Amino acid sequence: MQSVRAKGGIALDAIQLIKRDHAAVERLFKQFERAEKREDEAGQGRVVRELVKELSIHANIEELLLYPALRRAEQRAEDDVLEALEEHHLVKLTLDELEDMSPDDERYCAKMNVLIQAVRHHVEEEEGELLPKLKRALDANQLRELGDLLATAKRASPTRPHPSAPDTPPGNLLTGALAALFDRSRDAIRDVASRAMDRGRDGAREMAERGREAARKKVARGRRKARSAASAARATARRTPEHRPSVH
Ligand SMILES: [Fe+2]
Ligand SMILES: [Fe+2]
Repeated sequence: MQSVRAKGGIALDAIQLIKRDHAAVERLFKQFERAEKREDEAGQGRVVRELVKELSIHANIEELLLYPALRRAEQRAEDDVLEALEEHHLVKLTLDELEDMSPDDERYCAKMNVLIQAVRHHVEEEEGELLPKLKRALDANQLRELGDLLATAKRASPTRPHPSAPDTPPGNLLTGALAALFDRSRDAIRDVASRAMDRGRDGAREMAERGREAARKKVARGRRKARSAASAARATARRTPEHRPSVH
């Protein structure tokens, strides 16, 4: 299997891949916080859509591969994994709610900020407790193989939260695959629709601009005609006898 490679060409093992995902999510959190400060609702909505996707995919690969590997390799990780699954569940419920909300909803930013705090706490525990246990339990080759599996699973994971679906194997194997198929078809349809809408908006803008240009030209033509009619009228007036100055 081809190893996952970071930007510099170094193969990513499971721990590096999970940490890279965490860093990507943290960057999105910072973007949301900046958008909130600017009161940029469109920006907030864009970041939340991206976060729903990234967090759904990340939660799925952990539930499908990372947590089961930890439970198999390290008995003492059991309680931590169960707690992590519950935290995922709460995060997915919140993501599900955010998906149905609009950034102008008065609870939108409050909900997002609570989610950010919860995920930061979860990541801290994962990186501080779970990943070190995984590192102690698996050797370098096993960590690399798990990294490859996680990377492959990322490409076939659901992009929506699905809080009611099973989150442990074997239940999540089948439902996750079906959900991924459904989500990714929906994403593709949404992309096509949004590109069509963009094209429609561009076309409407172009038509409006053409209309404004035609109106500007018509007004200019009208002014020119009015000016030349006025100057013709003045010339005629100068030529008529009653307007000539009387000679005494
Ligand atoms: Fe997690
Ligand atoms: Fe994680």
